[in-house]
Amino acid sequence: MLVLPAPAKINLALEVLGRRPDGYHELVTVMHTLSLHDLVEVSLPGSPTVQVVEGSAGPASESGNTAARAVAAFAEALGQPVAAAVRLWKRVPWGAGLGGASSDAAAVLRALAVMHGLPPDGPLVMSVAARVGSDVPFFVRGGAALAEGRGEIVTGLEAQSAWVALAMGEGRCATAAVYGRLIPADFSDGQSTAGLADRMRGGPADPHRGGGRPNALARAAREESSELDRLLDTLGDAWSVTGSGSAVFRLAQSEREARELAAAAGVPAGWTAVARLTAPG
Ligand code: C5P
Repeated sequence: MLVLPAPAKINLALEVLGRRPDGYHELVTVMHTLSLHDLVEVSLPGSPTVQVVEGSAGPASESGNTAARAVAAFAEALGQPVAAAVRLWKRVPWGAGLGGASSDAAAVLRALAVMHGLPPDGPLVMSVAARVGSDVPFFVRGGAALAEGRGEIVTGLEAQSAWVALAMGEGRCATAAVYGRLIPADFSDGQSTAGLADRMRGGPADPHRGGGRPNALARAAREESSELDRLLDTLGDAWSVTGSGSAVFRLAQSEREARELAAAAGVPAGWTAVARLTAPG
């Protein structure tokens, strides 16, 4: 049996270049894992189930389904049955753009690889991860990374040190619905995100520098969730949407500043958290 943390992520910048013939969108995004995490327990052999022990995986159990798909895809790649029991302790909210379901799936793949004597971030795991979901390859390694293509082409960047305040209202965003609302005016050339990645390649980059944080999904996410739209109106421009929402974040220089920001955001938001940016696990 193995228990692994499955960290949340934020998108420090996210641009969409356009819609692809396969229905997905071509992305350029910088992602960073956080100290906020789920716990994923994998037992082998076990009765092939996914059980949510604590917290919520959402109405359609997105995390449960994604974790089950990860086990099935791993078994298919291995060419043999894999009877794994998965238990999830959910702390990362669903429908938040924090990557909870994808991160749980990556933790399942890492655990299964180790239990089969394979490297947890080797080529087999990476190729299975890309089939399970666009963000899953990023979570196999974690830390800071530039993700391109559908999100599955991952280049590691230097992990940054900063604190982050997170907030979320009642509304949740379904990723596919937010992507479905994109219009050509939301598309850009990726240069702003590539610039951030360049600054992070060599080491610490002041994450506060460079003004507004691009997120091509933010307009569509606000359209999708009126609660998110109102929350951002209240919190102001210094807060950014992560991924397809509906969580928002603001970077801070210290734990104290992050706690103050979260406390102030808690009145309109309801759910808040404070986390650190983390290095690969
Ligand atoms: O890959 P994943 O299953 O996480 O994606 C969820 C949905 O988000 C996809 O079905 C698709 O509608 C949308 N998506 C997209 N372009 C991407 C990633 C996701 O359109 N690069």
